[in-house]
Amino acid sequence: MADKNQKRDKFGSTFGVIAAAAGSAVGLGNIWKFPYIAGVYGGAAFLFVYLAFIVAIGLPVMLSELIIGRKSQRNAFGAFKVLAPGTPWKYIGILGVGAAFLILSFYGVVAGWSVHYIIVSIQDGFASKSPEQINSLFSTFIESPVQPVIYQLIFMLATAAIVIVGIKKGIEKFNKILMPLLVLILIGLAIKSVTLDGAMAGLEFLFKPDFSKLTGDGILSALGHAFFTLSLGMGTLITYGSYIGKDNNLVKTVINVTVADTVIAILAGIAIFPAVFAFGIAPAEGPGLIFITLPNVFHQMPGGFLFSILFFILLTVAALTSSISILEVVVAYFKEEFNMGRRGATVLATVLISMLGIMCSLSMGVLSPVTLFGLSFFDLMDWVSANIMLPVGGLFIALFIGWFFGRKKVEAEVAKGGNLSGIFLSSFMFLVKFVAPIAIAIVLLNKIGLLNF
Ligand code: PHE
Repeated sequence: MADKNQKRDKFGSTFGVIAAAAGSAVGLGNIWKFPYIAGVYGGAAFLFVYLAFIVAIGLPVMLSELIIGRKSQRNAFGAFKVLAPGTPWKYIGILGVGAAFLILSFYGVVAGWSVHYIIVSIQDGFASKSPEQINSLFSTFIESPVQPVIYQLIFMLATAAIVIVGIKKGIEKFNKILMPLLVLILIGLAIKSVTLDGAMAGLEFLFKPDFSKLTGDGILSALGHAFFTLSLGMGTLITYGSYIGKDNNLVKTVINVTVADTVIAILAGIAIFPAVFAFGIAPAEGPGLIFITLPNVFHQMPGGFLFSILFFILLTVAALTSSISILEVVVAYFKEEFNMGRRGATVLATVLISMLGIMCSLSMGVLSPVTLFGLSFFDLMDWVSANIMLPVGGLFIALFIGWFFGRKKVEAEVAKGGNLSGIFLSSFMFLVKFVAPIAIAIVLLNKIGLLNF
């Protein structure tokens, strides 16, 4: 049993806080999702809208989450019970814990594919394969009932092994090592990619604004992705915020994390597209870009063997520093609300989420005939969590800070280690009171078809 009076585990340094929060933000969302949706929706045109959402909605919601966490010193659910006792606000926390279950269940599956691809790369498994063979290598693997489940469980075990150790010695320590490693690998890959012959076409694909491709759907995807990529809307940063010391400058942290996440997403695009175009391969959509298109590129390019190993290590590391932040949401909730120890809470959360994850993995193959609302189990988990739960969570978090918690308490909490006053405070309050909730509401109504662009 956890001792309630025991000192709360905390991040030990400013760099540790930033590494952990940036580690959560930078993940599969940056490395496979961002480059591909940016390409589809008009390159720089999409980037422009996405950046506007990041600044106008992402930044304020992230600061809101950190304020809620640090002020309450509790998990995503307990935080609202402390700050707004006896009110229904706590259900935002329940929604967040639920979202954590769903997201980690499919996230672990994709991360497992990435672990498998490290091994395929080491075995030089893409060499001398035709595009069709590389394609079926991927589809045969993800559809098989046993192998992907094993890799998913390996990845979940790694996640649990870090979380079980705690905040400072587990989560913080690993992020401090893995995040710089990730940045180094990515910069190396980006340099290699842009120096290939014919790289320009890839840079153009990513950076040349094509406003004709920026549809209403593109604008909506930009908002949804802003939430997913910054880990917002489900209490990840409420939970991490609760481990941040009073002397931390929350505004600076939020800016650092957001800049890091955005730069890394753009770097991922720079690492991927020039290489893809240099070898005359059409960029595929979604997971295929990483697991089918890139292996085709790797086996043609000089040094591709090493490039592919590094790439899948990078992808796995990015996924791992995100998955630990998702698991911690559930672990902190079990620990504090059911008075469990960290060990028991981690084991329980990992087992439950992995069971859901196995269903996701099997839905690629043997369970593929089973669908709900026309979606496979995997797609359903992804769709409901990213498109509904995160934006709804973000909407209410903004409303909570804007209308319930209020300007005075915001100013006081931020002032503990930094400063937010005058025009900046007024702008922040305006964003959380009006801009974020209204923009999110428009997106949600559109998603469920009540409003059509
Ligand atoms: N931000 C992570 C990514 O881009 C995913 C994530 C979502 C992590 C929600 C935590 C919470 O891959």
